[in-house]
Amino acid sequence: MKVIIVGYGRMGKEVEAICAQRKHTIVAKVDPVCGDAPALTKELADQADVAIEFALPESAYDNVKLYTELDLPAVCGTTGWYDRVDEFRNLVTQSSIGYLYGSNFSIGAHLFFKLVARAAQLINPFPEYDIMGFEAHHNRKKDSPSGTALSIANIILENVERKKTILTDKCDHSINESELHFASLRGGHIPGIHKVIIDSEADTIEVSHSARNRGGLALGAVLASEWLKDKKGFFNIDDFISERLKYTQMI
Ligand SMILES: NC(=O)c1ccc[n+]([C@@H]2O[C@H](COP(=O)([O-])OP(=O)(O)OC[C@H]3O[C@@H](n4cnc5c(N)ncnc54)[C@H](O)[C@@H]3O)[C@@H](O)[C@H]2O)c1
Repeated sequence: MKVIIVGYGRMGKEVEAICAQRKHTIVAKVDPVCGDAPALTKELADQADVAIEFALPESAYDNVKLYTELDLPAVCGTTGWYDRVDEFRNLVTQSSIGYLYGSNFSIGAHLFFKLVARAAQLINPFPEYDIMGFEAHHNRKKDSPSGTALSIANIILENVERKKTILTDKCDHSINESELHFASLRGGHIPGIHKVIIDSEADTIEVSHSARNRGGLALGAVLASEWLKDKKGFFNIDDFISERLKYTQMI
C-alpha cells in the first residue's frame, strides 16, 4: 500500500517503522514542524491509498475535511476530538471515503477487553467474588485515569450488575459493594499496565495486559489501514477487531 503519514511525532515515527516492516511505501510524512511535506495536497493524495494520522486534536477536523475533499481514506489515531464525533461521521458518510478511528489501536488491548468482559460475565452470578482494577503508566503521562482504564471499568459495569459506579480517586471510605475501584499509578518508564483483579475469601483471579512499547499501537493502526482499503464509511477500531474475531469464529 502507499501510505501518507499525517503527524510525524512519536507515533508517526512508529507507524513509519511498521510500514517498512510490512513493505508499504511512504508517499509523504505530512507535518508542519518535522515532516517532508508541510501540508496534505491533492498531488500527494492522488499518489496514496491511505493516510494514517497521529497528530493534534485541534487539526483533526480540518484533516478529516481534507480527506473527504481529496478522496483519501484515512485511519485516525489522534484523540481528543470525540465530542465532535457526529460532525466527523456526517462528513465521512456524505463522501466516498473510508475513515476509521480509535483511542487505542493495540490489538492486544482489545483482546484484553474481550477477556475482561467474559471474566465479568462469569462472576456476575457469584456475589462471593468482588472485582477491581488498576493501571500504571510512565511519569510523563498527563492524564489519569487512562482512557483505556475507563473503557475497562465501563466494560465491568456493563457486565457485573452489582457494580453501579466507578471510583478512580483514592478510596477514603470502606468501599461499597456497588462501587468499582480502578486506581492509577504513575512513575518510571512503564508503557502501560492494566490489571483487573477478581477476589473472593478463597482465591484471586487476575487478568492483565502489559504493553511493551508503542509499536503495538502503530501495528494496530497499520493493520486497520490494510482492512480499510476498498471500504467506504465511518468505522471504529472495534469494527475491525470484531470482524477478525467473527471470521475466526471466536466470538
Ligand atoms: N489511538 C491510539 O492508539 C493512540 C496511541 C498513541 C497516541 N495517540 C494520540 O495520537 C496523537 C499524537 O500522539 P504522539 O504521541 O505521536 O504526539 P506527538 O506530539 O509526538 O506528535 C504529534 C505531531 O503532530 C504534528 N502536527 C500538528 N499539527 C499537525 C497537522 N495539522 N498536520 C500534521 N501534523 C501535525 C506535530 O508537529 C507533531 O510532530 C495524540 O492525539 C495522542 O493522544 C493515540
